[in-house]
Amino acid sequence: MKDAVYDEFIDRLRSECDIVSILSEYVPLKKKGKNYWGCCPFHHENTPSFSVTTDKGFFYCFGCQSGGNVFNFLMKIENISFFDAVKILARKMNIPLPQKEKTEQELIREREINKLYRANEMARDFFYACLTKTAYGKQAKEYLQGRGITNEIIESFKIGFAPPAWDKLGQAFLGRGVEQGTLLKSGLAVERSSGDGVYDRFRNRIMFPICDARGRVAGFGGRVVDDSQPKYLNSPETPVFNKRNILFGFDTAHKFIKECGQAIVVEGYMDVITAHAFGIKNVVGSLGTAFSPEQAKMLLRNAEEILFAYDSDAAGQNATLRALSILRNMGANIRVILIPDGKDPDEFIRKHGAEEFKVLIKEAIDFLDYQIKQAFESIDHSNLEGKVAIVSKIVPVLAEANNAVEVNAHIARVSQSLAIDESAIRSEVRKFLFNSKKDKNVNVGKNISNLVVVNTPSIATEQAERHLIRLMCEDKSLISYIQTNLSIEEIQGEHRCEIIKLIFNEYNMGKDTADITWTMLLSEAANAELSRIMLIDIQYDDSIKMVDDCIKSMRLTQLKVLYEQHRLRADELERMGDSRFLQELAESQRINNEINKLHYL
Ligand code: CTP
Ligand code: MN
Repeated sequence: MKDAVYDEFIDRLRSECDIVSILSEYVPLKKKGKNYWGCCPFHHENTPSFSVTTDKGFFYCFGCQSGGNVFNFLMKIENISFFDAVKILARKMNIPLPQKEKTEQELIREREINKLYRANEMARDFFYACLTKTAYGKQAKEYLQGRGITNEIIESFKIGFAPPAWDKLGQAFLGRGVEQGTLLKSGLAVERSSGDGVYDRFRNRIMFPICDARGRVAGFGGRVVDDSQPKYLNSPETPVFNKRNILFGFDTAHKFIKECGQAIVVEGYMDVITAHAFGIKNVVGSLGTAFSPEQAKMLLRNAEEILFAYDSDAAGQNATLRALSILRNMGANIRVILIPDGKDPDEFIRKHGAEEFKVLIKEAIDFLDYQIKQAFESIDHSNLEGKVAIVSKIVPVLAEANNAVEVNAHIARVSQSLAIDESAIRSEVRKFLFNSKKDKNVNVGKNISNLVVVNTPSIATEQAERHLIRLMCEDKSLISYIQTNLSIEEIQGEHRCEIIKLIFNEYNMGKDTADITWTMLLSEAANAELSRIMLIDIQYDDSIKMVDDCIKSMRLTQLKVLYEQHRLRADELERMGDSRFLQELAESQRINNEINKLHYL
């Protein structure tokens, strides 16, 4: 993507494409005023808040804040990479892709990968035929029927059966020209220890094809039909099967996940299959392994909320806690579905039906509550020792949470349940924060104040930053003025900071910022923010005065926040008998003076 031919090509697609007509293939749009409007395809709504600007080539949804250019739109709606979006757009516009010479190595690797997918696809068809069309599959079919798996479900998940023989698949495939090396690499066959020949990995098992996000068969899971061990056998890691990057059922679930903004993660194959069969289709399986950050990202690209519905046994509870710790810092809304009766979602849904499960979804609890609940359930707190153990388990959870109101409510509730003083818990949390930070002087106040005040992002600052960006887009002569008067550290919004940095950079490198290609370098979120900014209606007579006002407003807000922080730090230190509170007081006074000065400017 880096070379000039591609840059030029992308620029050409972008400038020649009619964004309204491309987006109209997915969303009915109507012109209203300058822009086009429709119901957002990325979240559910009945009144249009999805808008498209033709002159700037952006879309933005006021409901779910998604936005970007035509490539971002295709990436999101088709769930594809940037490169694939370029290809699709080129196809839609009937423009041939520029040919880039592939290296010998790239060609070899591509051929290898294709062979593996091809072998997997053949195996899927082979297993499916064994189950549905041969006598081998009889017992397996009965087993599946006994578990309520209809022919329809078998067909839609392409469930199959591996015959109870050592080389049925191997022989058939070698006969059809599949190389032995490919059989081994795909994990469908295993090398004999004698070194001569191979045998089938999967024998006498019900086979579940595992697909990647694009629906290509990446690997398999095979279940025994009786009580033998291991219950499940999976494909080994291969160049096309990396468990960290795959979620069972994601290829069909992702559009439903996107639609409802919510993804449900379960442990097992059968949990996914039963949920889908009962019409709950935003469900994917993490397949018994530890939930990975890569899987989290796959889901978060499609939904803001992730719900875990792991088995209610101890292993499932531990897996839930582990998954939560991975997601904690990823900015997701996370909840946990509690399954009261029956070990897993499969059993629950079969026993009580989809509607009851939907009730459980509605009642799913926040992950903070879950962790606290877990602590209470796993520790006997009738004695002092137990109470101490619970507090020490809960404290790290509370210390890491970033919603102060919530934390305070939890502290109150925990103190009541344990019949211990609230201040005791609070001081434990404080101690934890002290110990977990290396630079105590710098951080303590910040963390304590996080616990006491709610950090609301200032609307004034947000607006000022947006206006600055818009002004720079409208009139590039303002860029150097802003650059000399504002330092990049003063920008609060992460995405706006990214945008402004890039504008400065492009400008300094002598590029024309009116040319829209620079926005390609932005992250998806920053792109969405930029699209939103392009939709603002701004009016001004004197652009320099407008810039000055924006900067002043940002500084004032920032100083007020700083003032508040130092005041709180002073209070806290004073209460703890720490004499450094005097320095903090002096600092807050100094900031206050600065605020007054700015006011009179
Ligand atoms: N698993 C695995 N290998 C095993 C056991 C489990 O890969 N030896 C994975 C499978 O993806 C399985 C999931 O972990 O679906 C959950 O395991 P478990 O709860 O034991 O199985 P169930 O999904 O409940 O399977 P079933 O209902 O068929 O008994
Ligand atoms: Mn089960």
